[in-house]
Amino acid sequence: MAAENAATKSAGAPPRRSCLYMPGTNARAHDKARELACDVLIFDLEDSVAPEAKAGARDAIAARLDAGGYGGRELVVRVNHADTIWGADDLAAAARAGADAILLPKVTTPEEIRAAGDVLDALGAKARLWAMMETARGVLDAPVIAGAHPRLALFAMGLEDFAKELHADNAPPRTAMLYALERVVLVARAYGLGVLDGVYPAFNDDEGFAAACAQGAQLGFDGKQLIHPRQVSAANAAFAPSAEAVAEARRIIAAFEAARAEGAGIAVLDGRMIEALHVAEARALVATAEAIAARG
Ligand code: COA
Ligand code: MG
Repeated sequence: MAAENAATKSAGAPPRRSCLYMPGTNARAHDKARELACDVLIFDLEDSVAPEAKAGARDAIAARLDAGGYGGRELVVRVNHADTIWGADDLAAAARAGADAILLPKVTTPEEIRAAGDVLDALGAKARLWAMMETARGVLDAPVIAGAHPRLALFAMGLEDFAKELHADNAPPRTAMLYALERVVLVARAYGLGVLDGVYPAFNDDEGFAAACAQGAQLGFDGKQLIHPRQVSAANAAFAPSAEAVAEARRIIAAFEAARAEGAGIAVLDGRMIEALHVAEARALVATAEAIAARG
């Protein structure tokens, strides 16, 4: 059943190559984001907002979501943890304002996902849930967290907090993080969730950022969480399917359709067998490429 879900869910996901955080207090960034070519915008109420500014930021974000003007991009709100005095109000406000997704920080147990999912169900909200994977328990228990509630749609790696908790080093080339990165991608794919690589804080280091994106794409991530507009175009390039991969996918689809038209269940292309499974993957890749092209 997990496999069925995985196929259906991942095929329909929009592009998430570049997912830009903006502090909930930064009106200039919220304005500027309208012109940026990032796939996803994440309005932050958590670590980038000081305690005394939380309530004001919550209202400002709700007003932004209401006003719109961000095109067809996914609009996400990162709320404070349910254990804080802001968590419940953040969740309700983001849900009522029509966020596409609500990003839960420091997820440690499946109960946190279930509780948030139940609140969204009760409110009749459209929001999906995204979960930050940034605690040792969260990464370890990722499989039970992944299956906790049908609204859960994505894992986002949070490497700063995670490395700190592990007493490990998150510096490039992230050797000490590889087990966790691979584990989170593996679990996400097994459960049909999207999956985002962590941020690269040194936003003026273009070379280091490009290397981190290449590594994230190689590991299988859908895209990267970003902190600065300067990082958008490199992430968009690194996480887009290559022209060669799209051309190959189209050939696979065409070969399979030709075989089906003749009544065969499998096709042969360049001496390789093509089955329905390959075609489903090829169609998902072409759908992603078309969605990126439509974004302009
Ligand atoms: N989203 C949208 N626009 C942003 C932005 C962001 N995350 N970060 C910077 N900008 C804009 C600035 O407003 C500025 O625009 P302008 O020149 O048209 O006024 C331009 O990009 C250049 O910004 P710059 O001066 O280089 O950056 P800064 O020193 O003002 O800010 C940071 C640097 C890191 C504080 C800022 O990028 C930031 O707040 N990033 C997000 C942090 C965050 O949300 N963290 C939580 C998740 S880890
Ligand atoms: Mg964090």
